[in-house]
Amino acid sequence: MATTNPIKMGVIGVGVGATQIMPSMESLDEIELMAAADVNPRVRSAFQERHPDARVYDSASALCADPDVEAVWVATPNNFHSPHVVLAANAGKHAVSEKPMALTIAEAEAMVEAAARNGVKLLCGHTLGFSPPVMEMRRIIMSGELGPLKALNNWAFTDWMLQARQPEELDESVGGGVLYRQGPHQLDTLRLLGGGMVRTIRGTTGKWWPERNAVGYYSAFMEFESGATATVTNNGYGYAMTADLVPWSDEQGRGLIEGYTHDDRVRIRAELKAGTRDEFEAKDALRIGSDHERRFWRERPAEPPPWRPANLGILIATCERGDLRQSRYGLHVYKDGGVEDRPFAQARYNAGQEDLLELHRAVRDGAPVHHDGLWGMATLELITAIMESSRTGKDVRLTHQVPMAPEYGA
Ligand SMILES: NC(=O)c1ccc[n+]([C@@H]2O[C@H](COP(=O)([O-])OP(=O)(O)OC[C@H]3O[C@@H](n4cnc5c(N)ncnc54)[C@H](O)[C@@H]3O)[C@@H](O)[C@H]2O)c1
Repeated sequence: MATTNPIKMGVIGVGVGATQIMPSMESLDEIELMAAADVNPRVRSAFQERHPDARVYDSASALCADPDVEAVWVATPNNFHSPHVVLAANAGKHAVSEKPMALTIAEAEAMVEAAARNGVKLLCGHTLGFSPPVMEMRRIIMSGELGPLKALNNWAFTDWMLQARQPEELDESVGGGVLYRQGPHQLDTLRLLGGGMVRTIRGTTGKWWPERNAVGYYSAFMEFESGATATVTNNGYGYAMTADLVPWSDEQGRGLIEGYTHDDRVRIRAELKAGTRDEFEAKDALRIGSDHERRFWRERPAEPPPWRPANLGILIATCERGDLRQSRYGLHVYKDGGVEDRPFAQARYNAGQEDLLELHRAVRDGAPVHHDGLWGMATLELITAIMESSRTGKDVRLTHQVPMAPEYGA
């Protein structure tokens, strides 16, 4: 009888990011979630309560020493992605890295080298490049239905800077700020749709609030080897929200991660200015075992909720003979013959699901990892290039770009 032969998986860092992925790990036949590691005793006991048979460790190295764990999902803060992936690879484990894969190209190279040396798979995961609207845009672009891709325009206005943050999330030297944290969603998506090979980029970053000394804004213009161009903007300061621009919005600009309304943001801004917000408490209230986790990531309404701009924002792909943009349950396809709304058969985005299936196919069937270490490194290169361009005021010529295989998502 055929069996999926699930990968025995451990999570390192059971934080807010991990809470979004664990439902996919629990529901997929291809994955057996058998272990977790975290330095926070509260999340360790919440994980153990939910998974009484799982093994729970207080460090990444203890989990990696478990001979039964085959693969790890690294969801620790950004500065630990590279050391934890290298640790796991050296222990013979396959690894998925949260976004961004690392802070520097040198760190990313160390991860790629460790995976290759140990003969394990490395997948750079958890970006919205895996989400249904992006995958369907890629399929239509690759099909040639609207002619060659000419331009991509992507805008995200979110309240990232108002969400509860730990100190490392706001410190650029350890991967804090919207460019490191949200850049991977947008830049992975643009590279996926544009074929992967970006030639040059000119970018700028903004750090505008004394009470939040982190990059809260970026904007960039890039040109692909194909001649197609892309613009990208991310504003995390939470005034205007791209969520307000869709007709099915509740006009409260509700963010997806924490569900704040505009009124909530007024209060939070005042608390941040006054220095009275308890961010440790507020962040922990988003993690495993919280009411927030249950409402946002574990309740499964029978009907999938309509698409909302969330962290990727609004994206319009322009081809020679038409445009594509996200719609309520699918894509609007604008072409010479008129506009069509094409709803998806499966509109629900299950975070991590496609990443985990790609890992399973690679580990069990020897299929290629499309979002491999070199792919993640090329996306990271755009992040570091935007920083450099913002400092110098000049275009940056890219040197670490790799193409996406044409058959991916076709
Ligand atoms: N916040 C989100 O909505 C979100 C969404 C997707 C991805 N992510 C990614 O997840 C990662 C973590 O961000 P987060 O928001 O979940 O933060 P978080 O603080 O909630 O999660 C990090 C977890 O790692 C643990 N940890 C810290 N150092 C550790 C160590 N040395 N060993 C073991 N465990 C350790 C912390 O105790 C915490 O539980 C980031 O890379 C981020 O980009 C976050």
